[in-house]
Amino acid sequence: MEKLKKVPSHVAIIMDGNGRWATKRGLPRNFGHREGVKAIERTIYACLKYGIKYCTFFAFSTENWKRSKEEIHGIFNLLREYIDKDDNIFTKNNVKVTSIGVLDPFPEDLKKSLINIKEKTINFDRLNVCFALNYGGRDDITRAINKIIEQDVKRVTEKDILNMLDTRSMPEPDLIIRTSGEMRISNFLLYQMAYSELYFPKVLWPDFNEKHFIKALKNYQKRNRRYGGIT
Ligand code: FPP
Repeated sequence: MEKLKKVPSHVAIIMDGNGRWATKRGLPRNFGHREGVKAIERTIYACLKYGIKYCTFFAFSTENWKRSKEEIHGIFNLLREYIDKDDNIFTKNNVKVTSIGVLDPFPEDLKKSLINIKEKTINFDRLNVCFALNYGGRDDITRAINKIIEQDVKRVTEKDILNMLDTRSMPEPDLIIRTSGEMRISNFLLYQMAYSELYFPKVLWPDFNEKHFIKALKNYQKRNRRYGGIT
């Protein structure tokens, strides 16, 4: 196993390229998402191996409702199948499952499955896997502001906002990876990524494996994080 000195505590991933992966093979888009789940599994194992404490996957954005019903239901089914598995990666490996985003519009059975896996893993602490579901960075900030307004306060601090975001129990992401060569943030963790290091490998998400992950971690190690200061 490769020795890595300084690993990020929180890696957040925009899993892009599933559709292109499938289309290139003449397959329906959901085949790409199905292969994408395998890449999630590989990444979780890599996080466990290299001691990453938090990993957030952008699984469904507030904009993804624009996709066809078939694709949306395909994604929901994959997620349900994955978290309902008896021999799931989470309970076997002391992994806590959380989510960010608004779950209300999801089908009842999927919500139940999510509640179930969260409850089962609530006391686990080796790794925290967070699924961003019906998540949008702007929506997160807007909901946070509305919660603050409800408290009838006159002034807010940056910390107040951070403490109201869906990610309040996690550290800010150190490293954000977006696969497939696209260099966009697409309304992911907008407020939280103020000082994140960004990494855009060309590989399509279904092909992402431990080697790509190590490459991302090594690239991160070379970064000089100054947070606006001078070193
Ligand atoms: C982006 O690729 C991918 C998504 C919007 C969905 C990702 C969802 C999964 C991998 C399945 C969810 C399951 C779990 C277990 C979380 P794209 O479809 O935008 O690809 P493209 O840009 O090539 O079209």
